[in-house]
Amino acid sequence: MSKVVLIKNKIENFKKKSINVDGDKSLSIRFILLSSLSKGKSIASNLLRSGDVNSTINSIKKLGIKIKIKNDHCEVNGKGLFGFNYKKDLVLDLENSGTSARLITSMLSNTNNWVKVTGDKSLRKRDMSRIIKPLKSFGIKFKNNRSKLPIFVKGSKELKPIKYTESLGSAQCKSAVMIAALKANGKTKLKCLPSRNHTELMFKNVLKIPIKLKKEKNFDMIEVDGMNEFKGFNYKIPGDISSASFFIVLTLLSNKNSLIIKNVNVNSSRTGIIKILNMMGAQIKVFNKKSYKGELTADLFIRSNKKLKAINLNPKFNSSAIDEFLLIFLVASICDGISTFKNLSELNKKESKRLNWGIKILKMMNIKVKKIKNDGLKIWGNPNLELKKSFEIKKFLKDHRVFMVSTIAALTLGGQWKIHDATCFKTSFPKYLKILDTLGAKIK
Ligand code: S3P
Repeated sequence: MSKVVLIKNKIENFKKKSINVDGDKSLSIRFILLSSLSKGKSIASNLLRSGDVNSTINSIKKLGIKIKIKNDHCEVNGKGLFGFNYKKDLVLDLENSGTSARLITSMLSNTNNWVKVTGDKSLRKRDMSRIIKPLKSFGIKFKNNRSKLPIFVKGSKELKPIKYTESLGSAQCKSAVMIAALKANGKTKLKCLPSRNHTELMFKNVLKIPIKLKKEKNFDMIEVDGMNEFKGFNYKIPGDISSASFFIVLTLLSNKNSLIIKNVNVNSSRTGIIKILNMMGAQIKVFNKKSYKGELTADLFIRSNKKLKAINLNPKFNSSAIDEFLLIFLVASICDGISTFKNLSELNKKESKRLNWGIKILKMMNIKVKKIKNDGLKIWGNPNLELKKSFEIKKFLKDHRVFMVSTIAALTLGGQWKIHDATCFKTSFPKYLKILDTLGAKIK
């Protein structure tokens, strides 16, 4: 039996509260992976202690790397680019983490035996061919022709550099190629559609790897040379904007509230949610901006405002809000007018089919929605939306973001909600329910 939460009341007044969300998931995973390839000690503070990060840590430990962790303080003792120890019949289980499964596969070289990479029910449904294709060109071997986990990987010591065009706008694919390139004998050249740029920033500003970055009209050009070694490093992980987004929308759609969210990563390749909601009329303020090793952090101020207008979203914003679309659809459902979203096929390739889940939840709420061209959505907003019925959300492959968006709908729009798999938020945001509690949410 899955754990269930019941929400029967909207959230009340929590005016002028200030919160901190958990550490950024993308940066926490990258810290663990890149420090494991470094030589010597690396230290992180405010590391996210979630399911996705724990499965990454467990896999790296299985590769013979010592990791000490106390609360959110983490020490990794890397043994260099070729320092992994491959035991016979090694199985790496990345559980729910697509980022970790795709990036760790690119790190498995110089193996004597096949290494099995696998995950949970949701991850085993996700496409791995998007990384297998470029990794094969480097000379990494894959058993059978599998495009889904479990996959079996065998890497040679020295990889061949490649030229590759990444046309999905996937930071996971781009990063897998960049990481494999570190072990190649020469220069790898990548042309990619824009996506979050944390790996580039860490290579350049933290690991001091001399990569070349150039922006062209629609593509980012990246050149990475093969390396012998780079040293351990220290890293302070800021709050995750994807986690903060649930509280941005909670505040926006509730009555007469305001909220400060402190120390959030506001790298422009991640702030689509703020830009999009502000275009809809939200007036979210970003202040106290500080730069840190190429990344940007800030505090956010949000005020309730249900007088929002519909949007015809330019798909150039899609990649910088890729994990926030369920929330954006929820906001569109109370806007004045018809909102349109296009080119979102990647949404159905996440932990669950999120485009379909967006449609399903909105239809349950009696909102008119129409799928366009199989990868887009039209939403007819209802500014007077007031839910009274009972809702049950289940069988969503334990997708943490489907769970959290359902709780936000319940706490802002009313109705009686029964939401299953009520521990899955720990995949990305373990403090989620605790923070809701401090804001006075009544969740049983
Ligand atoms: C991530 C990239 C995104 C995002 C995921 C984290 C990353 O996926 O959805 O939650 O850390 O690189 P894609 O790069 O596949 O779009």
